[in-house]
Amino acid sequence: MVSFSPWRILLLSASAAAIANITDDSYFYGQSPPVYPSPPMPGSSSWAAAHAKAVALVSQMTLEEKANITVGYSPLTGCSGETGSVPRLNWPGLCLSDAGNGLRATDFVNGWPSGIHVGASWDKNLAYQRALHMGGEFKTKGVHVALGPVVAPLGRVAEGGRNWEGISNDPYLCGSLAGETVRGIQEAGVTTSVKHYIGYEQETNRNPAGDVASVSANIDDKTLHELYLWPFADALHAGAGCIMCSYNRVNNSYSCQNSKLLNGILKTELGFEGFVVSDWGGQHTGLASAEAGLDVAMPSSSFWGSTGQNLLQAVNNGSLVESRVTDMATRIVASWYQMGQDSGFPAGGVGMPSAFYKPHTPVYARDPSSKEFLVDGALEGHVLVKNINNALPLQKPKLLSVFGYDAPAPPEMNVGGPNDLLGGTWFYGYESELDYLPFLEGLPGTPQIAANGTIISGGGSGANAPAYISAPFDAIKEQAYEDGTSLYWDFLNVAPTVDTSTDACLVFINAFASEGDDRAGLHDDYSDALIKNVAASCPNTIVTIHNAGIRLVDQWIENPNITAVIFAHLPGQDSGRALVQLLYGQQSFSGKLPYTVAKNESDYTNGGKPSLAEAPYTYFPQSDFSEGLYIDYKYFDQKNITPRYEFGFGLTYTTFSYSDLEINKLDGVSTAPTPPPSPVIPGGIASLWDVVAQVTATVTNTGNVTCAEIAQLYVGIPGGPVKQLRGFSKIGVPAGGNVTFEFDLMRRDLSTWDTCSQGWVLQGGSYNIWVGASSRNLPLEGTLTL
Ligand code: NOJ
Repeated sequence: MVSFSPWRILLLSASAAAIANITDDSYFYGQSPPVYPSPPMPGSSSWAAAHAKAVALVSQMTLEEKANITVGYSPLTGCSGETGSVPRLNWPGLCLSDAGNGLRATDFVNGWPSGIHVGASWDKNLAYQRALHMGGEFKTKGVHVALGPVVAPLGRVAEGGRNWEGISNDPYLCGSLAGETVRGIQEAGVTTSVKHYIGYEQETNRNPAGDVASVSANIDDKTLHELYLWPFADALHAGAGCIMCSYNRVNNSYSCQNSKLLNGILKTELGFEGFVVSDWGGQHTGLASAEAGLDVAMPSSSFWGSTGQNLLQAVNNGSLVESRVTDMATRIVASWYQMGQDSGFPAGGVGMPSAFYKPHTPVYARDPSSKEFLVDGALEGHVLVKNINNALPLQKPKLLSVFGYDAPAPPEMNVGGPNDLLGGTWFYGYESELDYLPFLEGLPGTPQIAANGTIISGGGSGANAPAYISAPFDAIKEQAYEDGTSLYWDFLNVAPTVDTSTDACLVFINAFASEGDDRAGLHDDYSDALIKNVAASCPNTIVTIHNAGIRLVDQWIENPNITAVIFAHLPGQDSGRALVQLLYGQQSFSGKLPYTVAKNESDYTNGGKPSLAEAPYTYFPQSDFSEGLYIDYKYFDQKNITPRYEFGFGLTYTTFSYSDLEINKLDGVSTAPTPPPSPVIPGGIASLWDVVAQVTATVTNTGNVTCAEIAQLYVGIPGGPVKQLRGFSKIGVPAGGNVTFEFDLMRRDLSTWDTCSQGWVLQGGSYNIWVGASSRNLPLEGTLTL
């Protein structure tokens, strides 16, 4: 069982000032229990054929060859990493490339909506289609392994710099859509590297620096299972062939050498069939990481040796059993067979030179059939949270005023070409461009806003390479041309002049975030001032926020002149095109918040802040996940905090009513403390996925516009948080019509992790069931008795 060291708890309660800094890592030994040896690839039914083929191929490899494919080589292509190869056996090695929102830093690919946008769509089929088409682009360029999707960070820290790459801070929503993403990418023939395993919830101290180790995410066993591991289990159940271990430490042991997490949980309890790759530079030991279950070290390995020669030596001198190296190779090669990469797969990284300007034969990866899903993807992740005085949809306005730095395309697009050639940095690129917003100067790390134009993704390795950008102002101009609307714009001034005869003022702001830094806050004074200044003279002010994470609105949300507010998230390259269709009612809003918008920062767990290195742990920063399961809406429920906009909330152009809740327990469901004997399949014990109850409810469209509704099911598991999301479904409901929504509850959905028996337990008793439109609007209530 994972638990905090009693010594550390004692220390925490003593006066920090009186305690000298801990300088020796041995102080923490035992906090993450040892689990050895590393279990070999199981080769269970869904992987049996690939396993058998891999065993046959690997048996022909020498020890040198096996060791050589476990390490990364400096790529000759634009792949983010390449493994060694075995030309003698025609095994080409693997090209691994970023990331989860589109293939990065190359030409002829698309810039897809980001993870947070997928989360806001709550649309399983769309998540699958996005993944299938995006995966096709990776395959066309010969990328064997896509470095995504992101399910960690989950979003524990509201200011987290990479929350936007992930889907939602709710594990059920995140896991469902991550599962669809894995299915889609892998059906296209590309292995997913689900990342970052695990507890990678902040950028601050993510990597060791000087004498300071990476932050340790201290997570108890129950919280690990019921919250942070949950979406990984979904991804494995969907067949994920690769897991990336994270930079941080967990319970004071580096994730990429944590035997409890890799050998114990991933490769035993969750029956993982594929291989574990280190995050780039995330390997910190040789023998220890090999024995703890790491299979591939990226982008190269000083520990295992540039060709794996140190692994070889370790086997030859008896320090490491050869079967571990054989298992590493088997897992790597099996993923290649499992995705069908042994036949007809393009050459690794084809058409992706190491730098875009180097000569290369173009490889066109943009499939015309992707267009539909790029636009739908962009449309569905917009969330309308305020709409008064019939502000939206717009009706052929005579004069529209457009304000804010986020309305136009970034100026770099005019000189840099349509690709993310700078790894996403173009969003806030040239210092000179920032000069007109002096408040940004001198800020350490990532600025809170990208002041140079609209954002369609966040920054860092999760940024994508859009083929073009449809910025809001581009699409507004097109629509104005159609409607004969006059436009007035000012993107520069924080207090722009307003023409009093304007029909509406559209204000565009953003909240930027990038890998490497946590955000400096959840709202910024410049953007808030801009909105307030416009609203002071414009009684119909409509605010659109491109937000790479949670963005607070309480500085101005109750202002009656602010008539509509949209969280537009990160829509990918068709951003403006999609937004205009929504603003003008050609399409209806259908997204809902995949997180809670608080009234104040202080309303979030730990004030939304990352943990800092503090004495006596200055050299070993600690982040205690002592709130357990209670993050986001579960925390708001627990502490009785009223949010500004609750998890799951979103408006559209109609209204819905809910009726006819039916709850049916399936026959023969056993509530024995230990689940019935059942094999372990990828994701855990097979019976966890058995349906134990079914729920139906009727949703009626009470307005006169056909719109999609996302009905949500929450369960109160005895002894747990008041409610937890355990079902959702998105269906179009015709105006005046109704639709029956159905939800299957699986054994895992109702179970809790029992730390004593180290198993999931389905308790007998009464479970509250709610169905409704959001986590705080749940008109239907009933009970399931098990
Ligand atoms: C580090 C990032 O954490 C990871 O997400 C990414 O895939 C690798 N770098 C490779 O670029």
